[in-house]
Amino acid sequence: MAAAEHNPLLDGLRLRRRPDGCILVIFGASGDLTSKKLIPALYSLAVRQLLPEHFGIVGAARTEESDDQFRERMKQAVQEHARDEFEQEVWDELAAGMHYITLDFADDKRENKLRDVLTKLDEERGTGGNRVYYFAVPPSAIGTIVDEIAARRVAEGWIRLIIEKPFGHDLQSARDLNTRLKEHFAENEVFRIDHYLGKETVQNMLALRFANGIFEPIWNRQFIDHVQITVAESIGIEGRAGYYEQAGAIRDIFQNHLLQLVAITAMEPPIDFTADSVRNEKVKVLKALQTPGPKHVIRGQYGAGFVEGEEVRGYREEEGVAPASMTETFVAAKLYVDNWRWADTPFYVRMGKRLARRETTIAIQFKRAPHPPFEDAAAEGLRPNVLLIHVQPNEGVSLAIGAKVPGQGMTIRTVHMDFLYGGAFREGLPEAYERLILDAMLGDATLFTRSDEIEEQWALVDAIVAFWQRDRPSFPNYASGTWGPATSDELLHRDGRSWRRH
Ligand code: BG6
Repeated sequence: MAAAEHNPLLDGLRLRRRPDGCILVIFGASGDLTSKKLIPALYSLAVRQLLPEHFGIVGAARTEESDDQFRERMKQAVQEHARDEFEQEVWDELAAGMHYITLDFADDKRENKLRDVLTKLDEERGTGGNRVYYFAVPPSAIGTIVDEIAARRVAEGWIRLIIEKPFGHDLQSARDLNTRLKEHFAENEVFRIDHYLGKETVQNMLALRFANGIFEPIWNRQFIDHVQITVAESIGIEGRAGYYEQAGAIRDIFQNHLLQLVAITAMEPPIDFTADSVRNEKVKVLKALQTPGPKHVIRGQYGAGFVEGEEVRGYREEEGVAPASMTETFVAAKLYVDNWRWADTPFYVRMGKRLARRETTIAIQFKRAPHPPFEDAAAEGLRPNVLLIHVQPNEGVSLAIGAKVPGQGMTIRTVHMDFLYGGAFREGLPEAYERLILDAMLGDATLFTRSDEIEEQWALVDAIVAFWQRDRPSFPNYASGTWGPATSDELLHRDGRSWRRH
């Protein structure tokens, strides 16, 4: 077995129960998500013996492929993308319960075929009729499949539906999808994925805030000057023009990952860590978010440039992108959470592709000390305290504090107190999908988005997109490898602040 060395800090993991036996059906199994994320995550769960004892996987998609071809393709995917070394024995066990079926729901006979495969697998693997259906398909394809699953639901066994993003493309389509799901399934059977919630560092924000006595009393407008959240990517759209042209940064990242980071940063302490308590608090934040005015939302699109030393082309030159595309690849905004805790405290957020480097951070910038008794010159290198949560990479937390420079006199400079995951816990961090797939199997929806959260998120996006219809910025307006358009810097400069550079 890998990970054999005993690390007492990981003991908590072993307290979790193993999920009931079940079959995981992946719709859209020929897509990238399945090979790059889902199967490698399942493999890592298998390595740690966290999967159900009785377990099967059925990949389903329109592409023609045999069981053997599917298994071989997935084996290669694991070798390429899993965080663990490949172990033949672990793979053989996982692959033994793995099947593929070519499926088009418009074709009834095929649907019977899926049912036959599942019944047979239940008998072979002892999975008791329990099902996890993973929807890695576009939103338009979800409704029909959901109807079919509901119509063929058998009495025994539980059902859980994991729905990938995008969940709709605006408020109305998300509402329609929620209504369709609610016709057949209870909210606790539906698991809407936002993979950022599966990231250890995002969950650690909850630990940091609510497991420590020192942060919560100062986590408010009286002590915090402002918050900055950055979701920067150095990659472009990676051949996903068909999707991205419709989505843009506002639907791809802002609507989901970014707003969830805002919600986790701003939420009140939940009374317990159950799915409803946590999500009740998050939805309050989303409801309290003011719609920003047009001046407070900046959009950008990347032109050609250099990223990490490599020359890259502009968005409009990417394959499949319209030559005059007005799709944004960057958004920055100034948001306000209108409640007692946060009134008048700006949350500056930015996200974009082809930025200088990959970096997701949440920076809590505290107010300056009210009366430092040093001469101005002594504290020249002193910046206000910042609590920096490194979501990725270099996962950890860092607190910027003022310290005396050794030697004569009283010179003060900013230094950092750092906690790095890599140093404190020896085991590598699990991938977000490992945690989320396991939670769904266990029926724990705490780290999934509830229907009302999704709808609040879309309501904000719809309002922004509506005022975007009124003008056409001149795109491209930032070079690849920079930190976005100049207007994004101006957004903060107007308030006498600036984006962190680190
Ligand atoms: C996905 C977006 O949800 O998140 C992608 O569709 C983006 O465009 C990705 O690249 C970023 O995820 P991560 O985990 O690499 O930060």
